[in-house]
Amino acid sequence: MKQQSAIEEVRDNIKSLWLHRKGNEARASVQDVIDAKYKEGARPLIIASSKKEDTWTFAIYLPPGTGFLEFQKLTVLFQDATGGSVHIEKHGTVVTMEVMTEELKKSYPYSLFDASEYTKMALPIPIGVSAKGLIVRDIVEYPHLLTAGETNYGKSNQLHVIANSILLHRPDTYLIIIDPKSTEFDYLNEMALVVDEMNKVKSLFRELTERPCTEVQGFTIATGSRDYG
Ligand SMILES: Nc1ncnc2c1ncn2[C@@H]1O[C@H](COP(=O)(O)OP(=O)(O)O)[C@@H](O)[C@H]1O
Ligand SMILES: [Mg+2]
Repeated sequence: MKQQSAIEEVRDNIKSLWLHRKGNEARASVQDVIDAKYKEGARPLIIASSKKEDTWTFAIYLPPGTGFLEFQKLTVLFQDATGGSVHIEKHGTVVTMEVMTEELKKSYPYSLFDASEYTKMALPIPIGVSAKGLIVRDIVEYPHLLTAGETNYGKSNQLHVIANSILLHRPDTYLIIIDPKSTEFDYLNEMALVVDEMNKVKSLFRELTERPCTEVQGFTIATGSRDYG
């Protein structure tokens, strides 16, 4: 009995050394998280893995009883363990996990955004970059948006990106900017209605809601920005 456990120990050590070999760090980290989180019974099984540039893809089999949502909730743990960003998706009975280990840069040029790729979106806006690439959302699906952050965290920049993306790529949009600071959006005066007097805002909104939609071509969007910092 004692001898068997010694053999088992050696076997486990060899397995662990092989798993943690150079170049296999991401896979080893994923396995470590699985081992730590599923101590007993059926556990997720990595059935295939491949690597292309900085992206690892794992196919994972979830035995009955190991829920997909429960597994997906471990995303942050997988990210911490691998040092990359992790996307877990379900395809029938097999789950794929992508681990992208490329480090993100501090900034990316706006030219990365090609609006012609988003013809199905009414008002496409680039909102950030993940390891998977540029993240673009249709702002029509997010009619109320609150941007909060400390000074210098990019709140104003985000509003400029939204306003400029709308005006550049969907020029038929009727854009209204309410800017109590009165200086930041001055430069868009020719292309949008920039309102800086707060006492006019109420009557402006009343007029907008009373005006028949047919009077305005394309989309009527009021971007109410109350930017404090
Ligand atoms: N998305 C971004 N990517 C990289 N740098 C940014 C980004 N947004 C803002 N910055 C940098 O941060 C500075 C402050 O941004 P700003 O929008 O004025 O912040 P806030 O309005 O939150 O005080 C900008 O001058 C710019 O250099
Ligand atoms: Mg600001």
